[in-house]
Amino acid sequence: MRLLVTGGLGFIGSNFIRHVLTEHPGVRVVNLDLRTYAGNPANLADLRGNPRYRWIKGDIADPFIVKRCMAGADAVVHFAAETHVDRSILDAGAFLRTNVVGTDVLLRAALKNGVERFVHVGTDEVYGSVPRGFSTESDRLLPNSPYAASKAAGDLLARSYFVTHGLPVIVTRASNNFGPYQFPEKALPLMITNWIDDKPYPLYGDGRQVRDWLYVLDHVRALDLILRRGRPGEVYNVAGGYSCANRELVERVRRLMEKPRDLVKRVPDRPGHDRRYALNFSKLKKLGYRPAHGFGAALARTVDWYRGHETWWRPLKKDGGYRAYYRRQYAARLGAAS
Ligand code: TYD
Repeated sequence: MRLLVTGGLGFIGSNFIRHVLTEHPGVRVVNLDLRTYAGNPANLADLRGNPRYRWIKGDIADPFIVKRCMAGADAVVHFAAETHVDRSILDAGAFLRTNVVGTDVLLRAALKNGVERFVHVGTDEVYGSVPRGFSTESDRLLPNSPYAASKAAGDLLARSYFVTHGLPVIVTRASNNFGPYQFPEKALPLMITNWIDDKPYPLYGDGRQVRDWLYVLDHVRALDLILRRGRPGEVYNVAGGYSCANRELVERVRRLMEKPRDLVKRVPDRPGHDRRYALNFSKLKKLGYRPAHGFGAALARTVDWYRGHETWWRPLKKDGGYRAYYRRQYAARLGAAS
């Protein structure tokens, strides 16, 4: 199988590529990735020289490069996206270009090329905040952040290509991922790497926001299953099955890393911050998916991974763009600690 993966230098995409190349000797991967701030060739450094893997640097919103990459592809797994909610609050432009326009360019090229499967990797944030119960795939979409709105637009565009053109599209909606190679702007890697350096972690608002946590190695197994056994036209929720409030998460990690309480710094809340996400993923369970990693063990492995990979994350945090973002996002909130 020839697989076109987009955004394969990112966190989930790189874990997915490593997974499929390890598990399926018959798979060849072309990775179309622009190498934005969050895309990092170091995430797949171990694949250098692998004849079944090729990275092509390019923008999914560029029809010429997409046409080139799509040629000969049997299936597409589309990860490429701007993903950080806080950045979308500062400026949503790149989110619209990549998550909406880029998705449309890919869908059009996939249709022309007659691909057998197009998996659009999405997020539970499209459902908006769920005060109680669990979101099922047929629930209405009520995205609240510019990020979530752009992902909902891509998700609905993908659906429209199935309904209108018969493109065999499958949409996934996953909960909060964590694990190795996650860019240190997201909650868990920011917390862990700040604490390795005894710097404070900014906890937004009252910390009672609830998230479901999905270990990235479970997520990529689920995506592999969906690619092979999912039904075109369907949507699949993907969750880890462990949920907690942010303040509980912080306490867990703090105890695990043996850090003092004063490294948790309450800061003003994120505007429009969703209080709770929760997914019903029984449809995916019927396909045969079960999370293989318990949350506690996966969290401990993740902390160990960041402790053991300082050469991976330190250059990212030293980068001028990261520092400018961090200052803009946190300086007023954290004071001198930024
Ligand atoms: P994040 O990793 O940004 O994922 P998302 O917003 O997509 O769920 O954040 C996870 C949760 O942690 C979310 O409720 C926001 C919160 N959070 C903080 O409290 N402080 C932070 O510095 C960050 C980045 C997130």
